[in-house]
Amino acid sequence: MEPIIRISNLSKIYRVGNEKVVALDGVNLDLIKGEFCCFLGTSGSEKSTLLNVLAGLEKPTKGSIKIKNVSIERLNEKKLAQFRQRNIGFIFQSYNLVNYLDAVENVSMPLMFKGASKKERIKKSIVMSSLMYFLLMSLLTYGFKTNIPFIILIIVDIIGSYSGKYSPFFYS
Ligand SMILES: Nc1ncnc2c1ncn2[C@@H]1O[C@H](COP(=O)(O)OP(=O)(O)O)[C@@H](O)[C@H]1O
Ligand SMILES: [Mg+2]
Repeated sequence: MEPIIRISNLSKIYRVGNEKVVALDGVNLDLIKGEFCCFLGTSGSEKSTLLNVLAGLEKPTKGSIKIKNVSIERLNEKKLAQFRQRNIGFIFQSYNLVNYLDAVENVSMPLMFKGASKKERIKKSIVMSSLMYFLLMSLLTYGFKTNIPFIILIIVDIIGSYSGKYSPFFYS
């Protein structure tokens, strides 16, 4: 089967003053559609660098990354941003949420760049947030009762966003 992601001879060298930090050194990897892959390693073992380069957030020093047959290291910033938006999802270790936006606004932000109307953005993100929340909570806990305060918080947040009023539930 044709790989959906092909990494060939990938290298990333950071320059810190006069020093060179070789973060990735000739990485080769094929991933096929539907494959689930984990990178495990101690701190500093290049996991984040590999993911950043793989997602097109950083340019490699050498080598190529083909995703769906597109060599993403050759794309200019604009094309790369479009490609990321259509093909790549990323959950950041540090969340990278926008502090002054509430939960639903954070969820709906990518839809803004797709040109969705405000009404559509809010509707879609409320449905998604609620589904994800209930799914996660029912998977992660033994009983549902303990989650009721959190559910109330989420609902208050959603209503606050929907009515355009100040929302009490912010990320920080
Ligand atoms: N922006 C950077 N500038 C210089 N060195 C970096 C930079 N980012 C990462 N490194 C170095 O690259 C190596 C791999 O780091 P990283 O990919 O963050 O590892 P991990 O995510 O596995 O903890 C480390 O030696 C780190 O210090
Ligand atoms: Mg890391």
